[in-house]
Amino acid sequence: MKIRFLVSLVATLVAVSAFAQTNVFKIRVDRPGAQVQPTMYGIFFEDINFAADGGLYAELVKNRSFEFPNHLQGWRVGGKYELRDDGPFERNPHYLRLIYPGHPHKHTAVENEGFFGIGLRKGGEYRFSVWARVPDGGTGTLEIEFIDRASMGEVQASATATVRVDSRDWKKYEVIMRSEVTDPKATLRIFLAGTQTVDIEHVSLFPVDTWMGRENGMRKDLAQALYDLHPGLFRFPGGCIVEGTDLQTRYSWKNSVGPVENRPLNENRWQYTFKHRFYPDYYQTYGLGFYEYFLLSEDIGAEPLPVLSCGLACQFQNEDESAHQSVDALQEFIDDAIDLVEFANGDVTTEWGSLRAEMGHPEPFGLKYIGIGNEQWGETYVAHLEPFIAAIREACPDIKIVGSSGPNSEGADFDYLWPEMARLGADLVDEHFYRPETWFLSQGARYDDYDRQGPKVFAGEYACHGDGKKWNHFEAALLEAAFMTGLERNADIVHMATYAPLFAHVEGWQWRPDLIWYDNLRSMRSCSYYVQQLYTGYKGTNVLELTGEDGRSITGAEGQNGLFASAVLDSAMDRIYVKVANVSDSSRQIRIDFDGLKRKETVRGVEAVTYHSDDLDADNTLDEPDKILPARSPLVFEGKSLPLEIGPKTFAVYILEK
Ligand code: AHR
Repeated sequence: MKIRFLVSLVATLVAVSAFAQTNVFKIRVDRPGAQVQPTMYGIFFEDINFAADGGLYAELVKNRSFEFPNHLQGWRVGGKYELRDDGPFERNPHYLRLIYPGHPHKHTAVENEGFFGIGLRKGGEYRFSVWARVPDGGTGTLEIEFIDRASMGEVQASATATVRVDSRDWKKYEVIMRSEVTDPKATLRIFLAGTQTVDIEHVSLFPVDTWMGRENGMRKDLAQALYDLHPGLFRFPGGCIVEGTDLQTRYSWKNSVGPVENRPLNENRWQYTFKHRFYPDYYQTYGLGFYEYFLLSEDIGAEPLPVLSCGLACQFQNEDESAHQSVDALQEFIDDAIDLVEFANGDVTTEWGSLRAEMGHPEPFGLKYIGIGNEQWGETYVAHLEPFIAAIREACPDIKIVGSSGPNSEGADFDYLWPEMARLGADLVDEHFYRPETWFLSQGARYDDYDRQGPKVFAGEYACHGDGKKWNHFEAALLEAAFMTGLERNADIVHMATYAPLFAHVEGWQWRPDLIWYDNLRSMRSCSYYVQQLYTGYKGTNVLELTGEDGRSITGAEGQNGLFASAVLDSAMDRIYVKVANVSDSSRQIRIDFDGLKRKETVRGVEAVTYHSDDLDADNTLDEPDKILPARSPLVFEGKSLPLEIGPKTFAVYILEK
């Protein structure tokens, strides 16, 4: 009893003294250090959690080309019909023949369930399109309806339109429909009216109001969330998707360009990777393909970083060497990489550059980076990567190449790969860490001792996966913020960092936490999103040295009272941004001394932006998307030292001017 009392007394005294103690930070304001790269904070996109089809890609019809292995998955068909496979698009040959059942009181119709339903907004306009023909000639009639199953328990059409099919040849028909209701889970029905047989193929429904009003476009609220993040980098298309469970199902960028109707379906490995999150209807249509990706990168001002297969299928799932492409037969894969650069940057007279121009973008996209391999490891990876590097250097000498350090943030594979990447001359090395709280707390100084002469760091996938709390919550975001001070402080070698994964549908996720969540109509930006946004919003241009009185960086180390900190100069704005994360349970007194000021110079406070939640396990939700937001307050101060108090479990950005 006495011992317990003593222990708790000592703990209280330590806490009180830490609270009372002023933590002195010194910032060298007259010596702008390393440049913070424009690519420093970016986004990682992978089609996991229904991020593309059913997510960012605004198509509302599932299995629109009848190419899922179960060709009618997602469809309900009644009446008389045939599934046929001699359609107009050779890589998607299946289509549906709707036939008059032979009696005026019998009907043929087909319904699509969408992705967890079809989300419609009252007054919203939707572009329905279908490739169709009347094989017997004459004029066939299709009645198109949005079915609102939710209202009053009855089946009701919230919008109807008629499409008259008047050609024996395949043609695209299009009609704009307006929804009379808001319904997150509507159904699309295509009803055969009249007696004429009609063939239908590539049945599509998009909101007219997509991001930037583009056809075959992106869901507006989700693209807006990306834009609002101001990412400097956009990694795509993954992740494990790059590799495939087997090589046949790796992401093939060449299948993802050209007319959408003829982009062949690929399976999505996240359909079955986690048995407890099995989604039998999860496929990749490639509707959001590499053209759309480059365009979106341009729209949101991010440098694209495509990652391509190095000829190794997912190594977690394939121990047998025979699953992989042998090193002496890599040409097709190497060509893929070089041709992608041509697709992005090549002159319009080149094979792939001309396709880009045909698709609507004669100007080059200005691709600067390419990743080869995702989470690869071992000697086999090094052997696979080497010929890629040689060939890319020769064909596209300006492109920077990103290699992998394997799936782990440390350990034997990691230790082996880093020197190998340096030896091969990779420009950047991709590191991944989905790690618990203890790891994030211990990594504030991770990059301080990295070799300054070697490749640069790309922290390509990371997120705090709480111990027993592998979902989004404020404390995880706070620890990410704390860890990121170390990225920022080491911006001379850390050139890129992307939290992962980016998107998740609340009804279709396989992996948590994620940055942005949504259902069919609503979306929510997580606490981790706001942390990322605070870093992109106050990225600055140059690192400023920030230390304690003892000259040590503030990395959450022993004796630093749970504080992590970094500082940058924004030379364009003439401002200083100081980021502080207090991961402890108590408020902390801080005094920032500005070193290097001239005699008459002072520093003036402009604003403080603080991020905190009393409930550390909480996050924003679809019902309360604005529950936990950064708060702004004026920072009233002018002088050579700034006294501050930062609350417990708080991340703050202090905006200052000289
Ligand atoms: O982000 C989810 C997965 O995590 C990625 O596909 C893979 O690269 C990593 O293991």
